[in-house]
Amino acid sequence: MVIGKPLLTVEQVQNRVKELASKISEDYEGKQVLAVGILRGAFMFFSDIVRHIQVPMSIDFLIASSYIKTQTSGEIKIHADLREDIKGKHVLLIEDIVDTGLTLKHIQDTLLGRNPASLKICTFLDKKPRRKAELKLDYVGFEISDYFVVGYGLDYDNKFRNLPYISIFKEST
Ligand code: IMP
Ligand code: MG
Repeated sequence: MVIGKPLLTVEQVQNRVKELASKISEDYEGKQVLAVGILRGAFMFFSDIVRHIQVPMSIDFLIASSYIKTQTSGEIKIHADLREDIKGKHVLLIEDIVDTGLTLKHIQDTLLGRNPASLKICTFLDKKPRRKAELKLDYVGFEISDYFVVGYGLDYDNKFRNLPYISIFKEST
């Protein structure tokens, strides 16, 4: 397997995280946010962005998966649900990457059924060319082409999540 040079450097990642956080802080001024990290991929983005968001906040996590290696299985599972009751709360979903959008669509539909006051989506990466589900993304870090990327929480076979930057992943043959 080959990890190329960064597609997004540590500096680009961190600058964009701060920009997103300040937009979120503006938009939610006067409100209390429930930030929901979608594990495992969003763990690094989540922990970076929340420390720059300037409004009162509580946090929660859910664990979902749809991917086996680099193939989308199309079947979404919620392995661990939220602990918070989200009724009447301003929920901000924090995701690593939206690819087909099927995972987030499933999560969004499930959570909307619990009557939050609002539900918005913040994703670090948007792989728009591969979208299958119709989904409004409120905050997007970067749009990328159809590459398989790793780092900054994103994995191949649960590896490379700890890289502090985003790289394109290629399987060597
Ligand atoms: P979707 O349901 O197709 O939008 O897939 C979303 C999930 O697939 C993401 O939360 C990631 O965990 C995973 N995923 C999608 N594209 C990539 C990628 O390029 N690298 C690593 N994981 C990815
Ligand atoms: Mg994910």
